[in-house]
Amino acid sequence: MASDKDAKAAMAADLLAGLTAMPKTISSRWLYDRRGSHLFEQITDLEEYYPTRTELGIFDDHAEEMAAALGPDVVLVEYGAGALVKTRLLLDALTRPRAYVPIDISGPFLRDAAGALQAEYPALEVHPVVADFTRPVDLSDVPGARGERVGFFPGSTIGNLENSEITAFFRAARTSLGPRAKFLLGVDLKKDPAILVPAYDDAQGVTAAFNLNLLERFNRELEAGFEIEAFAHEARWNADESRIEMHLAVLRDTTAQIDGQSIYFTKGETIRTEISRKFELDALDRLLAPTDWTRSATWQDENGYFALVLLN
Ligand code: AVJ
Repeated sequence: MASDKDAKAAMAADLLAGLTAMPKTISSRWLYDRRGSHLFEQITDLEEYYPTRTELGIFDDHAEEMAAALGPDVVLVEYGAGALVKTRLLLDALTRPRAYVPIDISGPFLRDAAGALQAEYPALEVHPVVADFTRPVDLSDVPGARGERVGFFPGSTIGNLENSEITAFFRAARTSLGPRAKFLLGVDLKKDPAILVPAYDDAQGVTAAFNLNLLERFNRELEAGFEIEAFAHEARWNADESRIEMHLAVLRDTTAQIDGQSIYFTKGETIRTEISRKFELDALDRLLAPTDWTRSATWQDENGYFALVLLN
């Protein structure tokens, strides 16, 4: 078991690597501490943030078709343990799901998710796995013959990864899930920046609080001494990369301390804290081409804002 101290050392090392790079970045994985996860839940209820409610609408309209395409008796392997609303919709539509296997890097979130689901589905075998799912995960002691496994990755969280990481993720998933497995993936689709930018820069400032909480977290957990008022939330559309980027803009020269090292921030520079890729389906197909996954079905909302895709 990794200790709290090891976890903090790993966080400090990752933070230091990102902040000594040019341009400066902070990994989006650190957004989700208790407060960050709570703020994200609030984001999903915002008028401007269309993805969650759009994806839920697609499940409402098409869960039966998805379940039919996935087949009976499957072992559902979810990448990341989130709010579980989508998990329930899928489990309720599936015929005799055999087991639910949530994979998450955070033990506490995973235990909460697994416990809640087990209580609601007493007959379902719930088998949580603590792991970093960007690498192959050993599922050999998880129930279910190989072909019955279904990977499940909703929420377009795949869009937080760089292209090379997406390819690596799907190669690793094939290794973990087996040659006959299927995969149900949620992807946010490319649309007008006039819709995209407010979704990541809402009028109430919840997304700004979510972004700035990163620095507050490092102050709480690493005593980094970030001057929060010296930073401002920014959401940008990067057309070349087809992605929204969250940044923290530096408003005045300031410093922070990580592991005894001083980091200098200059007025006008920014720290990139998250990428959120907005897909076109043919671009997704090109990303999947070097893996052995192929898109075999697609369900969308009527505006074409979001898609759930079946991969074989
Ligand atoms: C949970 C990663 C899908 O990228 O839309 C929401 C996170 N960041 N607002 C996204 C997020 C800012 C969200 N994901």
